[in-house]
Amino acid sequence: MSLLFSPIKIGNLTLRNRIVMPPMATAIEGPGGSREDTGLPSDTTVAYYAERAKKQVGMVIVEHTYVTKRGKAHKGQLGLESDDAVPVFERLAQAIRANGAVAAIQLNHVGALGNPEVTGHEPVGPSDKPNPRSERKPRGMTKGEILEVQGLFAAAAKRARLAGFDAVEIHSAHGYLGSQFLSPLTNTRTDEYGGSSENRARFILETVAKVKALVGRDYPVFVRLGSVDGIEGGFTPEDAAVVAKMLEDAGVALIDVSGGFMGSRPAGAGPGYFVPAASTIKNAVSVPVMVTGGITEAAFAEKVLKDGHADLIGIGRALLRDPDWVMKAKESESM
Ligand SMILES: Cc1cc2nc3c(=O)[nH]c(=O)nc-3n(C[C@H](O)[C@H](O)[C@H](O)COP(=O)(O)O)c2cc1C
Repeated sequence: MSLLFSPIKIGNLTLRNRIVMPPMATAIEGPGGSREDTGLPSDTTVAYYAERAKKQVGMVIVEHTYVTKRGKAHKGQLGLESDDAVPVFERLAQAIRANGAVAAIQLNHVGALGNPEVTGHEPVGPSDKPNPRSERKPRGMTKGEILEVQGLFAAAAKRARLAGFDAVEIHSAHGYLGSQFLSPLTNTRTDEYGGSSENRARFILETVAKVKALVGRDYPVFVRLGSVDGIEGGFTPEDAAVVAKMLEDAGVALIDVSGGFMGSRPAGAGPGYFVPAASTIKNAVSVPVMVTGGITEAAFAEKVLKDGHADLIGIGRALLRDPDWVMKAKESESM
């Protein structure tokens, strides 16, 4: 009996299988990206996501979506900054759900990686320490700014719920703002948001609490957790396991494991490069754990599940290239 093709529950949601299309910005690469810089999904974007859902993916997590233009990462990015966006995003959520997949959407703030030409503002982060992925020196956020950004995540999450998404995912990986607060490399604050592991996790924990307060306690909230910085003195899978437990206690329904400053696609990494990190995290929590990164073969995915390293498998670039990936995987399993 295949685990990959058996249903799974995440909070109150049931997925028809364990295969997830992880967030992938369509403006960066791929067939969904023919869009004006409006922050809104175009017909092409809707059709692109609908096709993956129709072809049997268990859950689609729509690409990173800014909660405020000040936190926008690049041109062409989706945005849920205003209530006017809700009816347009409704078409996207509906297209995914109508094809039998669970529809989630990732919310993001670029933080210290911000480009003033995109955001119109100087980059801000936990501290004024330059980010290992950028030359730019950010300005350390005031406490008031931290609280404001957390509120913006909550407001965007509410819009996602109103648009009909089944769940939201808060981006805390790949060196973006959530990741910047977790990593001792970029968070050198001396107040309650810096220093100890608990203090560095405070930003994401308070964000989750504010999101849940606005969307309702039973609405599933996921966190994409950057688990490895891969730089001396940075965030490690052991640190991530401690934070994952805190997130579980805060009511997070799924821990979606990826990289920290290492990014999502480290050069030269072999198949399933975040599986060891996911396994460390899975040992610390009882909510479902998802792993993504270099997984292209159904048999490999099945083994990761059977060996108990994770509960769900993200298939990124392979699905981008081939929308039929899931159906082909199913055929290969039954042979
Ligand atoms: C074009 C592209 C865009 C991406 N955009 C995002 C994103 O918006 N949010 C995110 O968390 N990860 C993003 N990622 C990372 C993927 O979700 C995934 O973790 C990564 O591609 C590794 O998985 P894979 O080897 O299965 O492709 C992106 C990856 C690609 C290739």
